[in-house]
Amino acid sequence: MKIHWIGKNNSLLLHYLAEIRDREIQKDRMRFRRNIERIGEILSYELSQKLAFRNIKVRTPLGEKETAMLSDKIVICSVLRAGLPLHLGVLNYFDSADNAFISAFRKKNPDTQSLEIQLEYLASPDLKDKVLLLVDPMLATGMSLVSVFKTLQQNGNPKEIHILVTIASEQGIRNLEEQLPAGTNLWVADIDPVLNEKAYIVPGLGDAGDLAFGPRL
Ligand code: URA
Repeated sequence: MKIHWIGKNNSLLLHYLAEIRDREIQKDRMRFRRNIERIGEILSYELSQKLAFRNIKVRTPLGEKETAMLSDKIVICSVLRAGLPLHLGVLNYFDSADNAFISAFRKKNPDTQSLEIQLEYLASPDLKDKVLLLVDPMLATGMSLVSVFKTLQQNGNPKEIHILVTIASEQGIRNLEEQLPAGTNLWVADIDPVLNEKAYIVPGLGDAGDLAFGPRL
């Protein structure tokens, strides 16, 4: 897997990341959602440099210009509900992309006490020969992304896979490296070292779904 750590150097991205991590600024849900959306836009711009373009000529009011336009067919997939703001940010840049949604939640197996991923709802277009952008704000264990990818495979084999993440744990990245196809690209804003006993990223930012949309039962 090729890892692109976009927040490694100072840029506006770090400013938005600092705001989504800050427990005081997080109280403004609209700012939290919008900052995640902006991070999705920045990651999209970065990854666009690896996509396929076709040469074209455009007629301007004053002449003709040889330039290029995106030729890859994009499908953006996110996990409900926490993935929605990041998904929207990516869709802001890939405006004719098709979209897939899947619901996933972590459930403790009462027999083994281990966390398992439960997938329920899936709405996805045909993925054959498409560029699949898998969007997840928090890559903690990587278990849900791997389950999502395996489930999506029933809809065809994508030409390329790019994973877009706001904050990833080192363990989550290792798990993806082991379980996803070798040519996968990971575009990550920031990488944190630790997972706590509830599989939350530390220092991370807390629960991205609750911060964007409010608490649930
Ligand atoms: N999901 C979150 O919202 N936060 C984490 O730290 C891990 C998973």
